[in-house]
Amino acid sequence: MNYSEPTTPFRERQNTEMLETAQLAQLSLRNISKVFPGRNSPIDKLLKRTSPDFVAIADINLDVTSNTFVSIIGPSGCGKSTLLNIIAGLSAPSSGSVLIDGKTVDQPGPDRGVVFQNYALMPWMTVAENLRFAIETVYPHWTVTQQKETVQEYIALVGLRGAERKHPHELSGGMKQRVGIARALAINPQILLMDEPFGALDALTRGFLQDEVERIWEQERKTVILITHSIEEALLLSDKIVMMTRGPKAAIAQVLDVPFPRPRKREELDQYPDYHRLKTAMEQHLSYETRTVEASRLQK
Ligand SMILES: Nc1ncnc2c1ncn2[C@@H]1O[C@H](COP(=O)(O)OP(=O)(O)OP(=O)(O)O)[C@@H](O)[C@H]1O
Ligand SMILES: [Mg+2]
Repeated sequence: MNYSEPTTPFRERQNTEMLETAQLAQLSLRNISKVFPGRNSPIDKLLKRTSPDFVAIADINLDVTSNTFVSIIGPSGCGKSTLLNIIAGLSAPSSGSVLIDGKTVDQPGPDRGVVFQNYALMPWMTVAENLRFAIETVYPHWTVTQQKETVQEYIALVGLRGAERKHPHELSGGMKQRVGIARALAINPQILLMDEPFGALDALTRGFLQDEVERIWEQERKTVILITHSIEEALLLSDKIVMMTRGPKAAIAQVLDVPFPRPRKREELDQYPDYHRLKTAMEQHLSYETRTVEASRLQK
């Protein structure tokens, strides 16, 4: 099957953008690759079922200036979570490095807050205790009053006043994710990393939380890396959208600039002339990459 390839000269454009912003970058990814080793245990070898190494992502380069909202979008299984986990320091790259303000980071740190799709809250702790635990871990020298005030500040920021004493099992999915966002922000990270934070939510709650993230971002202005499958979500929230190719050896295909003024309202977005151009570029990219993944699967 033949699918028309998107026309933009992907790699050339990526490298130009990199050179323009490299001097100012807060977060830099340099030649990041991740190889998952194939099954090569002695028993597998005996049974002749060894599988080759799997190169999930290859040679990823990206520079992000501070206070930029970046979304990463790409076909399912291309390596988005793999890349985010490497930035978070939860997984080591097979080669390449992550730099923050020019310094290599290779483990998790308070400079990066992570919001997970499955919330990852402590089930035995209340909302306030979940936040307090994160704050205590990062700022053990703070007074109890300082810690409590910060907990209250971030609970208010995400609209959870009144739910402080509830446990995660007493919260809706949307409320749990608010706790996740509040916990990540409460440690005052330079960079907020979010892996499909709204993926498990129904469409209405998802839309509502997207608007909340837009509002919070106006207030907090962090550097954000958001992984999403939603074109609308990326266009509503991002300054830049990184489009990844399919794997194996997934790479950055193109980086789109989203020039809409802020604060943004979802109902006004499609009035901007660039909206339809960007949406079409993303749809074409995702459709091409996803269909070729499916075509290669069918050939196997
Ligand atoms: N621990 C692992 N061992 C072996 N292969 C892995 C491991 N983790 C991920 N992979 C493979 O790496 C590729 C990228 O996985 P990853 O979870 O990063 O994709 P993704 O883009 O986040 O997908 P999705 O959009 O479905 O969340 C997949 O082919 C996956 O099977
Ligand atoms: Mg993922």
